Amino acid sequence: MITAAAIDRIATREAEAFRKANPHSLALATKAQANWFQGVPFHWMLDWPSPVPLVAAKAEGATLTTVDGRVLDDFCLGDTASMFGHSPKPLADALARQASEGLSYMLPTERGVELGEMLSAMFRLPRWQVTTTASEANRAVIRWCRGITGRAKILVFNGCYHGAVDDVFVDLKPHASGWAPKVRASVIGQVQDLLPTTTVIEFNDVAALERELKRGDIACVLAEPVMTNVGMVRDAPGYLDALRRLCSETGTILVFDETHTISSGYGGHSNAYGPQPDMMVIGKSIGGGVPCAVYGFSQEIAERMAALNASRPPGHSGIGTTLSANALAISAMHAMLGQVITHDAYRHMLEQAQRLVKGIEGVIAAHQLPWHVAQVGARVEFVCAEKPPTNGSEARAAMSHRLEAAIHLALVNRGILLAPFHNMMLLSPVTTDGQVDRLVHELNTVIGELLE
Ligand SMILES: Cc1ncc(COP(=O)(O)O)c(C=O)c1O
Repeated sequence: MITAAAIDRIATREAEAFRKANPHSLALATKAQANWFQGVPFHWMLDWPSPVPLVAAKAEGATLTTVDGRVLDDFCLGDTASMFGHSPKPLADALARQASEGLSYMLPTERGVELGEMLSAMFRLPRWQVTTTASEANRAVIRWCRGITGRAKILVFNGCYHGAVDDVFVDLKPHASGWAPKVRASVIGQVQDLLPTTTVIEFNDVAALERELKRGDIACVLAEPVMTNVGMVRDAPGYLDALRRLCSETGTILVFDETHTISSGYGGHSNAYGPQPDMMVIGKSIGGGVPCAVYGFSQEIAERMAALNASRPPGHSGIGTTLSANALAISAMHAMLGQVITHDAYRHMLEQAQRLVKGIEGVIAAHQLPWHVAQVGARVEFVCAEKPPTNGSEARAAMSHRLEAAIHLALVNRGILLAPFHNMMLLSPVTTDGQVDRLVHELNTVIGELLE
């Protein structure tokens, strides 16, 4: 058993080792305090378990080099943005070319016309729009769904995350009479009460889904087909089919946010495993790290959107931002879809993921730990709990934040970078057997030390 004292001992030792090994990162962290709020240009950069964030010098393929000259095997890959590898050559070439041809015109380009065809072929939805982030795509989708259905409410799953989207920050919390919805307490500056327009239920609960959708007042269900932001919660057998059926029966639009589950396979989870949503959102990796995202939809939804557009007065729609679909973003996605996000890339990623899952399962078995490994294609996590969670509440309860943080930092000090959120690991098309085996080996060492 891993004790609290062992976690403290390793966390203290590793924090000290980190300070010794990263003097330049430490010095820059101190310097940056003068101008950046809390010392970083973006406050999420503080979400790492290390005493200060590593300062990156460059990244290439599946490695990241710090300003201290340390080269890390990168399994974080920009928290999915670079999950097809850092700066793949076709992307780098496309960006260099576009940099000399202008970046933002507020006009379509020929490459953009081709990109539309590529999106439809890869994700099997006929109509598309571009935004600058996945958060923005989800906000746009929610507006469209409310607009075309005339229904105010949306439904999300407890523990979900779909980006900086006000409407989805509602959780289920224990309450005297069971569970009650509550606006997420951590959200800054939230003034509107979201409860009248956001319904939240547990994932995998068909009865709750049926009860809520049959009221006929939900515009859309916004869901990841497998939850990935509260740890991973797999769909129970038949659940997604029930979701699809109930949405169709009740005139509710089914939106799959595939920003993370694009890791499942070519064309995302819905194309690899079904069912097909009415609308789909994909951000982060679609531009290889260039800020852009897309949302796709069926012909029927497109016609309803067009009718809504034709019926509203001219003026602001509340959807879109100036840099959306600029030439840079289009070129980035064109290169990614055309040359990087390929069947061959997925074959390699999924093989590496299998290798990693097997390796970590071996470590867990060797140490007889009550842990398991969760996998969504090329996205893998080890979970310090025996049983896979079936919903957001169980997944939250399965988290061991201090233990996860101690392991994360110990691995950083051994040259391995996992995502700062629940030690998620991504396998890219350029991740090597050696990198996977090194991760398994070092994890085994760290766990052995935690058990001493
Ligand atoms: C499923 C999902 N959707 C949307 C987003 C938002 O992406 P972004 O922060 O790039 O807007 C995230 C971010 O983690 C996500 O996990």
